[in-house]
Amino acid sequence: MLEKRVATVTGAGRGMGEAIARALAAKGASVVVSDVDEVAARKVAADISKDGGKAIGLRVDVSREAEANALADLAVSEFGQLDIHVNNAGISTTKLFVDTTKEDMERILGVNLIGAFLCAKAAVEKMLPNSYGRVINIASLSGQRGGIGRSAYGVSKAGLELLTKVMSVELAAKGILVNNVAPGAIATQMAIEQHDSNTREAYHFLIPQRRYGTPEEVANVVAFLASADASHVSGATFNVDGGFLSAGLMFEKEGVEGMAPPKSKTEKGISQNA
Ligand SMILES: NC(=O)c1ccc[n+]([C@@H]2O[C@H](COP(=O)([O-])OP(=O)(O)OC[C@H]3O[C@@H](n4cnc5c(N)ncnc54)[C@H](O)[C@@H]3O)[C@@H](O)[C@H]2O)c1
Repeated sequence: MLEKRVATVTGAGRGMGEAIARALAAKGASVVVSDVDEVAARKVAADISKDGGKAIGLRVDVSREAEANALADLAVSEFGQLDIHVNNAGISTTKLFVDTTKEDMERILGVNLIGAFLCAKAAVEKMLPNSYGRVINIASLSGQRGGIGRSAYGVSKAGLELLTKVMSVELAAKGILVNNVAPGAIATQMAIEQHDSNTREAYHFLIPQRRYGTPEEVANVVAFLASADASHVSGATFNVDGGFLSAGLMFEKEGVEGMAPPKSKTEKGISQNA
């Protein structure tokens, strides 16, 4: 259903970006798999090609304008056009506000917000002449709620969510739809590195579905937004968070199974089944 479409995905060497690249390729899109880790990008592209998909790998540091432009250029030179761009590359830190430095702010915003802006701008330039395009930004629940340690990361993702809205308003009439996917807690390397046992316990307590999501569950929503089925969806945010944002008071209701949050303080792994 994405046959004849060409996509670029950033941060696609592992985690959610890899799952997104694979999902788009599985639906028939030709994909430029990009990552600051060139070896990882090329490996994912080679794996997709081995499975019968069309993909090429490229090293792209999204925070460098020339590399962001090179990504969009390669889509056109290799596959003839650019229809879908996914801003997935992101870096994270968990530091209290009082400990957060100017360098932390600049580093995180430079990749998560300015990097996404640069790549989207380069992509949209290729889309405008065709009056067709889809830009999907991967933000975060951390950009919607004030979580501890999230002053830099949360602000970068809140900015990305607003950038989505502004872009969607300016570009919808030109055939370019821009939407935002906001994952909650997803079992990837980033979460393994950033979430200590207290964080994991807190997530299991606060997510009504009582588990982390998988990269594939995020990729499925991205693939929908990239598809013709989402032809009247613009400026929206799709949370993929197991109900986290909607949750209010959660307590045990006697005799009603499944309504109780976990009782024990036992360590639970990060696996989506935990
Ligand atoms: N894992 C979660 O729980 C979670 C939750 C909400 C949002 N997110 C967001 O989802 C996206 C993917 O996260 P993930 O969990 O798969 O992370 P991850 O760390 O597993 O993968 C991120 C990828 O981005 C690449 N990358 C880092 N800096 C880059 C740069 N400057 N240019 C290009 N590529 C770069 C890395 O090399 C890596 O391959 C990120 O934007 C992240 O902020 C993650």
